[in-house]
Amino acid sequence: MRVCIFGTGYVGLVTGTCLAEVGHDVVCVDVDAAKVEGLNNGVVPIYEPGLTPMVKANHTAGRLRFTTDAAAGIAHGDVLFIAVGTPPDEDGSADLQYVLAVARTIGRHVERPAVVVDKSTVPVGTADKVRATIAAELAARGAEVAFEVVSNPEFLKEGAAVEDCMRPDRIVIGTGSASALETLKRLYAPFNRNHERIVAMDVRSAELTKYAANAMLATKISFMNEIANIAEQVGADVEMVRKGIGSDPRIGWHFIYPGAGYGGSCFPKDVQALARTAQQHGLQPRLLEAVEAVNDAQKGHLFELMQRHYDLGEDEGLRGKTVAVWGLAFKPNTDDMREASSRRLLQQLWDAGASVRAYDPEAMDETRRIFGQRDDLVLCESANAALDGADALVVVTEWKQFRSPDFATLKHALADAVVFDGRNLYDPAEVEAAGIAYYGIGRGRSL
Ligand code: UGA
Repeated sequence: MRVCIFGTGYVGLVTGTCLAEVGHDVVCVDVDAAKVEGLNNGVVPIYEPGLTPMVKANHTAGRLRFTTDAAAGIAHGDVLFIAVGTPPDEDGSADLQYVLAVARTIGRHVERPAVVVDKSTVPVGTADKVRATIAAELAARGAEVAFEVVSNPEFLKEGAAVEDCMRPDRIVIGTGSASALETLKRLYAPFNRNHERIVAMDVRSAELTKYAANAMLATKISFMNEIANIAEQVGADVEMVRKGIGSDPRIGWHFIYPGAGYGGSCFPKDVQALARTAQQHGLQPRLLEAVEAVNDAQKGHLFELMQRHYDLGEDEGLRGKTVAVWGLAFKPNTDDMREASSRRLLQQLWDAGASVRAYDPEAMDETRRIFGQRDDLVLCESANAALDGADALVVVTEWKQFRSPDFATLKHALADAVVFDGRNLYDPAEVEAAGIAYYGIGRGRSL
């Protein structure tokens, strides 16, 4: 089938590439000419496992093209995807200006019947706004073209986006139109093998499904972080508690890992946007507000542990201390630092007068871009290099290569022989046996 995708961010680029991979003829449109030129030359602007070779192969095969020419993209597509960003507004609600700008462009150029698909995460009711915007543009130029607007939210995870897209656990399609549903079923048929993955529903339910999924996952994390904080105070180990509850299938093993707080481009923004929607409808979203508040506090927790270790009062700083930080990305297998917990920690360390030696396997360029040159930040070549001259180590992101360090080397390298483990990667007994003080998240037994 012939597909046009607006937006070559995470969602648009991965979706377009995977649709091309299964044989569809895909044109991706973006307003960023440099990005489009790069993509046409095989330069993929994000780090996502497996994506670059797939982009190159499909581009070479002629099934995947990139352009800034919106009219040409619209002329090409039977199905037109909107996959542009929905950043938070000042008040936390999703900013729809890019989505509606694409809708206007579609209305101005569409010449033959099309199915318009909302893939961006958008508040309930957006499909109606997209429909009205396209209709207004058609009316303004006196054109009559049949079109449908479908909600088809994306559930891919950064770092596993290609895999999630090629093997989705569900494909949610929200539409009242039988023919639009048929079109999308045909489009997704190659991904819908062995058992039925398509969940068809009305547009508004599909829009809400996306937020409900992310809010539920964020709730699990904040819940576990709250339990971790209780464990810390009562002398229990949250890792034992996690193992003790995960085997109940009603609770499950996923997303019950306490840590330094959730980050990324989705959970923080989607929890806020859903809370905003609730407020706009006269509701008080007590649970969502708590999920956000717990997460915000959790991002400061590693620093609190450091204050506790160094026995610092409110106003005393860490002046003269050098802290090694392992992991800057908001999670492993990505270079994305949006809303990353490391950003809060670095700022707190600097405010306290400490300097930082940091290492992340992928996010060094991003760190440089965000913080620029500063005397109290040294970006290191390797995890070991970050330890040179450091007093303490803080682990913020659970990259595989941080999982089994040589604790004898750590003990030797760290002047204060202390590790703050923001993702509970280590066995406290093993670290302490090496003569290193250990602080994890919710590990009361070590305090
Ligand atoms: C999330 C969802 O998991 C995807 O299903 C969804 O499609 C996506 O948002 C989206 O809306 O686009 P993503 O933001 O890529 O995906 O990352 P996750 O793997 O969900 O991790 C989010 C954050 O939660 C990370 O900071 C991670 O460290 C943290 N986390 C995750 C925990 O602290 N504990 C856990 O048990 C799991």
